Amino acid sequence: MKMIPKRQNIGSAQGPTTPGLLEAVNGNLRRNPVRVRVLRFDGSQLTVPENLMDKFVVRGGNPLIGSIRVSGAKNAALPAMAAAILTEEPVVLENIPDVRDIQTERNLLVSMGAEVELGYGRASHRTTMCCRNLVNPEAAYELVKTMRASTLVLGPLVARMGRARVSLPGGCAIGARPIDLHIKGLEKLGATITQEHGYIEAAAERLRGGNISFDKITVTGTEDLMMAATLADGETVMENCAREPEVIDLAVLLNKMGAKITGAGTSTIRIQGVSKLGGAKHRIIPDRIEAGTFVIAGALTGGDLTVANCDPTHIGSLLQKLEDCGVTVRTTQDSIRVTNGHRLKASDISTEEYPGFPTDMQAQYMALATQSEGTSTVTENIFENRFMHAQELVRMGANIKVEGHRAVIRGRTPLSGAAVQCSDLRASASLVIAALVAEGETILDRVYHIDRGYERIEEKLRGVGAQIKRLGEILPKRSAAQPAGVA
Ligand code: EPU
Repeated sequence: MKMIPKRQNIGSAQGPTTPGLLEAVNGNLRRNPVRVRVLRFDGSQLTVPENLMDKFVVRGGNPLIGSIRVSGAKNAALPAMAAAILTEEPVVLENIPDVRDIQTERNLLVSMGAEVELGYGRASHRTTMCCRNLVNPEAAYELVKTMRASTLVLGPLVARMGRARVSLPGGCAIGARPIDLHIKGLEKLGATITQEHGYIEAAAERLRGGNISFDKITVTGTEDLMMAATLADGETVMENCAREPEVIDLAVLLNKMGAKITGAGTSTIRIQGVSKLGGAKHRIIPDRIEAGTFVIAGALTGGDLTVANCDPTHIGSLLQKLEDCGVTVRTTQDSIRVTNGHRLKASDISTEEYPGFPTDMQAQYMALATQSEGTSTVTENIFENRFMHAQELVRMGANIKVEGHRAVIRGRTPLSGAAVQCSDLRASASLVIAALVAEGETILDRVYHIDRGYERIEEKLRGVGAQIKRLGEILPKRSAAQPAGVA
């Protein structure tokens, strides 16, 4: 029998739908849904409940001009936080991005008994973690299903606590995403693995060094096993490793903690196991995918955008491709300036492991290709199903045909604003970019996907001239209409 929750208002005579008041549902206090008045770009009004506020409204046509600052790399911060499990001492991480996946990882560590202290004020991007008293070496399904990188705790937990219980992630919007290579590697290091009720259980009194040769290059697999091997008995040699900058950043942190790792950034990594690791302080590298997303947005809108606080060498393949498309790219040690005064030219891309063209930039590049003259082919080699954005771009006016793992984009077709759905993090970024050059207003639904990995993207883009609002904010009066400016 379905129970209907009893509602009872607290502290108000205004009736059960009064916005923001606490109400009791089956004895638990919770807040009534707040209904918010939203003013759209055309001046009309909309009222939406708070729980439907995860939408962006974008009015296209403004070139991006000015300087935009890149946050710390989510995909470097996540393994760095998992590395704190390896020691009883505090690990201090700076330049941690304020994004949803980081909150999920903090929750995961806290659920195991870790103490997590957040910086505040000017130090708001600093997190101190202390895993002295870990009591529950488990990553529950509820967390793993919302963030697959939770599996990064598997190796560190077995290495430090001798056991781990981690939910299997299952499939997701971009493909199957198995963790068989993490498991095979742990077995090579002497762990006993069992699988039951959707969970992997790994146990080893002490891991021992071994030779691991990955059948396929895996980023988090390389990171997971590198962490595990730091506390193993003897030497581990890992071959066919991922060479991403995030792998190097993790090795730098682990070495600061007392690990003995050489070769990170090449395909062979050697780890001499040590008996104990200590605390460390480390600054996370800038987010190369966020930087690349802004670079494409700048190029596409025909603006003059400086992407600051980034490392241009981390996205060399993307910058080269943009030059092939006719974009002017100038770099310093920590910034990229893109200007584009003429039409974009079509060019093909094929995603590869680092240092090839990143799969995490494929969707954003596709948005650019819709506005390039000629036919571009986008081939996705890393994930089996990473074209969810293509159909949404088609709804905005793009001409894209997907055939297996290849998409053919015929440009340039004008884009027009539409209601579109975000399906995953990078697909969402692609739709935001397309909306910036679409004629009229685009409403993006399910922007919680973008909040997983981009820190306040709407504020950053607004700072360089974009018209973008999160629904729920009161929008300024409609500004003079500007042409959809694609150079
Ligand atoms: N694979 C296996 N078995 C494994 C592991 C991976 O078959 O045990 C396969 C995958 O199915 C995929 C390929 O190997 O086909 C590469 O997957 P990889 O393991 O490298 O991906 P990941 O480590 O799960 C990281 C990033 C992703 C990024 C990929 C590829 C983090 C937290 N995530 O994922 O980032 O797309 O590498 O570069 O580092 C994102 O930020 O939007 C994102 C998805």
